[in-house]
Order: sequence, then structure tokens, then C-alpha cells
Amino acid sequence: MEVLKKVYLCTFGCQMNEHDSERVRDLFLKEGYSVVNEVDEADVVLFNTCSVRRHAEERAYGMVGRLKDLKEKRPWMIIGILGCMAEAEKDEIFKKLPHVDFLCGPADLDAVIDIVNRIRQGAGRIMRLGGYKTRRLPKFSKDRYTDKNAYVKIMEGCNNFCSYCIVPYVRGPERSRPLDEILDEIDCLIDNGVKQITLLGQNVNSYGKDLKKGTDFVGLLESVDRLIQRRSQQKKSDIIKVDFITSHPKDAGINLFKAMADLKSISKKLHLPMQSGSNRILKRMDRGYTIERYTKLVGEFRRIVKDAILTTDIIVGFPGEREEDFEKTMEVLKDIRFDAAYIFKYSPRPFTKASLRYKDDVSKEEKERRHRLLLDMQKKISLYRLRFQSATCPQI
Ligand code: SAH
Ligand code: SF4
Ligand code: F3S
Repeated sequence: MEVLKKVYLCTFGCQMNEHDSERVRDLFLKEGYSVVNEVDEADVVLFNTCSVRRHAEERAYGMVGRLKDLKEKRPWMIIGILGCMAEAEKDEIFKKLPHVDFLCGPADLDAVIDIVNRIRQGAGRIMRLGGYKTRRLPKFSKDRYTDKNAYVKIMEGCNNFCSYCIVPYVRGPERSRPLDEILDEIDCLIDNGVKQITLLGQNVNSYGKDLKKGTDFVGLLESVDRLIQRRSQQKKSDIIKVDFITSHPKDAGINLFKAMADLKSISKKLHLPMQSGSNRILKRMDRGYTIERYTKLVGEFRRIVKDAILTTDIIVGFPGEREEDFEKTMEVLKDIRFDAAYIFKYSPRPFTKASLRYKDDVSKEEKERRHRLLLDMQKKISLYRLRFQSATCPQI
């Protein structure tokens, strides 16, 4: 019966969230639902949300808030908030948005069909959170891919607790998937004709630490490469390319760079968030490295991995960031010449050390100014790098 089986799904946030949404979509398709692009046609409306900056939460609050009238016209419609913001805001969402029916944290997404069914049977509002405490990671169904590009989750959660970041609180502690499960999934993707795979983790370099089986991230890359080489010989097809996000500078090193240089299927792209060029700020961010160490790492990366692509994340306006700290970040940006840099304005997040201990003392206007200056500079550098594929661009 096709009644009440139209689902609308809107995703905010990072690739991990996009991937989680793929899974949720798949669960609904298996239940006989169809996916609709217009919210006013839907019987089930889902927002997979992000909490990394307040702005992302405000956008979600705004979008869901505007559905109040629609829900009055379609009272059978079920509205669910999934993902990180459900974990971060909890029943605050129920208080602010009386028309929301359920919340479901990122580690509980397997339960979403069951939740929808229970609400239909009159269970009232449901909150399903904290699933990461049981430390499991879901298995995926094997037939779900038709695209050329696919994500493969290798680990989830984060133990780093950078002082500004909410992710460890909403995604929970690091959990790695067993190696054979990952290889099995990649094998199926190859059968399904996938050409490009992105390995996902909040902190991929920590892969395997919790498995205590001696497998680490480089070992995983080697196993993945072996599998891909073998399968492409069998299929007489081109090598599938594999990239990965995100790497933490404190755990990245020569072994990883050598693997990137030597393994044929591993792409030469590295996303290595720097966050700041000032040691004083890096220390307050609890990043666990100095800018000298970061710059040295980049030097080693470029020496070992030829024709590599290097991208980064930077936060401006972190509490206590003075003009001289910002200028250091600008200097390093010009020095390193990333292929791309994602630049964010600091946003205080609940639970985090920075929000509890440090005053958000850089004004909105100043954050805006620093953000613009870095963006403008990076735009010039990215253009140059794109055109000349060179780390040296003398005119900047
Ligand atoms: N796990 C990844 C990144 C996760 S969040 C890593 O450690 O590299 C993606 C980016 O959002 C971060 O790299 C950081 O630059 C930014 N970010 C995280 N928390 C933030 C906050 N409170 N305010 C502004 N930007 C933030
Ligand atoms: Fe957040 Fe730091 Fe973990 Fe990245 S490494 S998810 S920035 S706590
Ligand atoms: Fe956002 Fe959660 Fe990803 S907070 S950045 S969606 S891990």
C-alpha cells in the first residue's frame, strides 16, 4: 500500500551526514517509500542536522519552524530531526518546535522506520539519543549503490576534544569498523560499478586504535589498495580511486605520505585542518601541535607525495585571537599555499571547553573582516594553484 509512504529528506553538515542520509533513504526505499523533492507532498519529513556552528542549527530551526502551517494542513505528517543537532539540543527542540514528532541521534538512525511506525500507532513524541554509548557501528546493505562515487564509513566519533568542537559530544567516542567488513563493502561497491570511493571518519588517522588488532589507517589503505588492484585485474578495468577525510595533523606522518605516494589506488589529496597559524591560539584550541610542526609536516608531505593536493580548515575569531595571531595565520596561508581552504568564523558550542572557559571576545564585525581577508587571499592562491599547479606563486 502506497498510502503515507512519501518521504522528504533534507541534509545539513559534513560528508558523514550525507552518507548517513543515504542510509536513511535506503531504509525508507526498502520499506516501500518513495522519496519526494517537495516537502508539501511528503508524509514523513526528515532533517538530518549539523551542530558544528550555531548558524547551521539556526538554519534548521528556521526551516522546520516554517513547516508549522503545513503540518496543520497535513496532520498525519510526521516530522523528525535526525543527526548531530538532535544530540546537541535534545528536548530543547521539542520545546521550540511543538510540531516536531521525534528526535533521532546519528548513532540511532537504524531505528528511524521503527520510530515512524510507533508514532503512527499513537506512541506520541519519541526521543532516541545516545546510541553511540553502545559503541556499535551499523552494517550497510550491499545493494544500495548505483552511483559512480561512494562513501565508505571506516570509523566514527572523535576522542580529540579540540576545545571549540562539539563533534565528540554528539558523535561520541571513536569507533572503528572491522577491516573485513570495510573490505567486504568495497568489494560490493566494485561489483556495482563504483569508480571512486571516499573513506570517511571524523579522524581517519585514528582508525583501528580501538580494535586493538594491530590494524592502523596505513594498514587499512594497504589492504584496500590490494583489493582494488586484484579486482581491477580481474575485471580488466581502470583502477578505482580512493580518497579519505579527515586527517588530524597530530596523527599524520611519513608512513601515511609514503602510502599515498606508493599505493596506486590511493589519491594524492590530503585534507589537513590547520585551524590557526598562531601557537598561542593552537594551544588554546587544544590541537596538540605547533605551527612549526604543522609546516614541517606539509613540507614532508609535498616532498614525498608528488603532484599532491592539499586543503585545510581555518577558524577565525577564536576567543583571545588578537590581530597579531590573525596575521600569523595570514602569513602561514600565504606561505603554504593550500589548494583550497575552508574558513569558518568561531561559534561557541555547548559542552565545549572553549565555550565554558573563554569569552567569545572577538566581535562579529572583526570575525567578518578576518574571514573576508583570508577568503580573498585564498581565492587568489587557489586560482594560481589551479592554473599553474605550482606551490610557488611569487606575485602573492
Ligand atoms: N574532524 C575534522 C573536522 C570536523 S568539523 C577535523 O578535526 O579536522 C569541520 C571544521 O569545522 C573544523 O575543522 C573546524 O575548522 C570547524 N569548526 C569546528 N567547530 C567549530 C566552531 N565551534 N566554530 C567554528 N568552526 C568550527
Ligand atoms: Fe572536532 Fe577536533 Fe575531533 Fe575534528 S579532531 S572532530 S575538530 S574535536
Ligand atoms: Fe556537523 Fe555532525 Fe558533521 S556536527 S560537521 S554533521 S559530524
